[in-house]
Amino acid sequence: MAPSSSSIPTDPAGAIASTLASHRPRIDAAIEAVCDRHVANVAQPVADAIRYALGGGGKRLRGVLVLESHAAVGGTGDASLLAAAVEIVHAYSLVHDDLPCMDDDDLRRGQPTVHRRYGVPAATRAGLAMVPLAALAGQDAARALALGDQGTRAVVRELMHASGASGMIGGQLLDLDGERQSLSVPDLERIHAGKTGALLAASTRLGGIGAGAGDEQVDALGRYGEALGLAFQIADDVLDVTATSEQLGKTAGRDEVLQKSTYPALLGIDGAVERADALSAAACKALSDAGILTPALERLAIFAVRRRS
Ligand code: IPE
Ligand code: IPE
Ligand code: MG
Ligand code: MG
Ligand code: MG
Repeated sequence: MAPSSSSIPTDPAGAIASTLASHRPRIDAAIEAVCDRHVANVAQPVADAIRYALGGGGKRLRGVLVLESHAAVGGTGDASLLAAAVEIVHAYSLVHDDLPCMDDDDLRRGQPTVHRRYGVPAATRAGLAMVPLAALAGQDAARALALGDQGTRAVVRELMHASGASGMIGGQLLDLDGERQSLSVPDLERIHAGKTGALLAASTRLGGIGAGAGDEQVDALGRYGEALGLAFQIADDVLDVTATSEQLGKTAGRDEVLQKSTYPALLGIDGAVERADALSAAACKALSDAGILTPALERLAIFAVRRRS
């Protein structure tokens, strides 16, 4: 989104780029380790489709949020498998989101979508297989962080709850039902909070849980993630109309073609940007009120609304 007249400062000298880049190798290595451990027995071409869906391209924002939230509350262990678990749920959501029966997209992360590359049956199956893969990664993560039985249950529950009917899947179903409908802003907010906000909130909460933080800190991280997640999806809607397919690595302008309700359609681009900026500021306030706002988490909240892809 182009910087506007809002009070949100611009990202200082690419600091966010280095925050993202510094975590990427660890997250990618953890995803690779999960695949080596759990994808080996999956039949072809589904196994290749899973690895393709998980490879390259993405910003890894959810994984970075796990790591930075973990650090913000004093976590010292290796949370990279936790970051991988969330990225696996996210990648699965994209595989299915792109299917012909959903948003019917050809391009993702600058490459053909999984069903374009491997066919619809393999892409559908890859997405299905990635759900238990994420749960296993969550269990491995809890073991690596020595969270014990209770902590392991909390991690897997958090991950699956955010992915399910009251989270991402619930939002995706409402999003599909909303095509060609004129929705109100509160209806749209419910959709965005589910399809995107739930997993971003789970990312930040999981960072806290992985560090053994208390409920108050985990809840503050969750409020940050919820607000940031909604802001992130509003920015996604804005980018769909203001950026090019080359910049996005996915086909621009799909929302209008699919007749989705979006924030820019309901509030105009300026109104949508203003709402996203207010949510970004609210995200940071949730953490500063709890005394756990770090420079990196502040930068990530700005990135959510200032990114170009
Ligand atoms: C795309 O998410 C789907 C949305 C929830 C808007 P990202 O923009 O984080 O996608 P990648 O992981 O960087 O490709
Ligand atoms: C996607 O929303 C949300 C999920 C994948 C859960 P969009 O459909 O707007 O995401 P893009 O624009 O295809 O990445
Ligand atoms: Mg969609
Ligand atoms: Mg889509
Ligand atoms: Mg979109």
